[in-house]
Amino acid sequence: ALVSMTDMLNKARKEGYAVGQFNINNLEFTQAILQAAEEEKSPVILGVSEGAGKYMGGFKAVVPMVKGLMESYGTTVPVAIHLDHGSSFEKCKEAVDAGFTSVMIDASSKPLEENIKITAEVVEYAHKHGASVEAELGVVGGQEDDVIADGVIYADPKECEELVKQTDIDCLAPALGSVHGPYKGEPNLGFKEMEEISKQSDLPLVLHGGTGIPTKDIQRAISLGTAKINVNTENQIASTKVIREILDNDKEVYDPRKYLGPAREAIKETVQGKMREFGSSGKA
Ligand code: G3H
Ligand code: ZN
Repeated sequence: ALVSMTDMLNKARKEGYAVGQFNINNLEFTQAILQAAEEEKSPVILGVSEGAGKYMGGFKAVVPMVKGLMESYGTTVPVAIHLDHGSSFEKCKEAVDAGFTSVMIDASSKPLEENIKITAEVVEYAHKHGASVEAELGVVGGQEDDVIADGVIYADPKECEELVKQTDIDCLAPALGSVHGPYKGEPNLGFKEMEEISKQSDLPLVLHGGTGIPTKDIQRAISLGTAKINVNTENQIASTKVIREILDNDKEVYDPRKYLGPAREAIKETVQGKMREFGSSGKA
């Protein structure tokens, strides 16, 4: 069923596992992730960045695509359609109006007061429509879509406390050293800050830049209240690798289903592996 993230994340934090947000880029990504979730009996969050939403034909095209697939697959597990890194109130509103069940407002580049103000506005609108809200503090490194962050800024636990107290968000993404895209070397996550932020409330925490984080760090983050982990690049790498091999090995192939089908299978396997690693398998 199409739901917001609220119940699935509260349950995950309480029971000590994390729900994966897997970003969708096209039809095959969406199919693969929905199939993986159903087979694993896992709740799932379909992440849609503004850029990917535009690529797929706009938010209004994304929602019916997801709903249609859920109907023909007979999906029984909880599914959320979530705007990833929403850049403004207007974009969040557009997503909610199109039928997204969840949005992230990423006003983390703004001063704290402004971040709080915009986030509160988004919460008011989203909650009125039954949608959940994720907010961010600090800076996630690396590049996603056209947004390039130079450097990483660790979220300040005091600011997190303030944001949580003054808004009614459903989960919080404190940037603590994670990076979008592949890591250069081992990630250096701020577990001390994570623990401090986690102790302030029962709010589920979100870990961005899930690609390339070692299992021991994933487990530690979950034990410190992380209940949502975002993964995108890993699925992109897995699917592109398969397509490249097929095209390299067969110069005659022209039917897109001959390479997109196997790419879809690679995404599904990657997502199933993550669901087991995050502990969400069997939790739907
Ligand atoms: O918001 C999306 C995620 O943080 C994706 O990060 O591409 O490094 O897996 P990733
Ligand atoms: Zn992210």
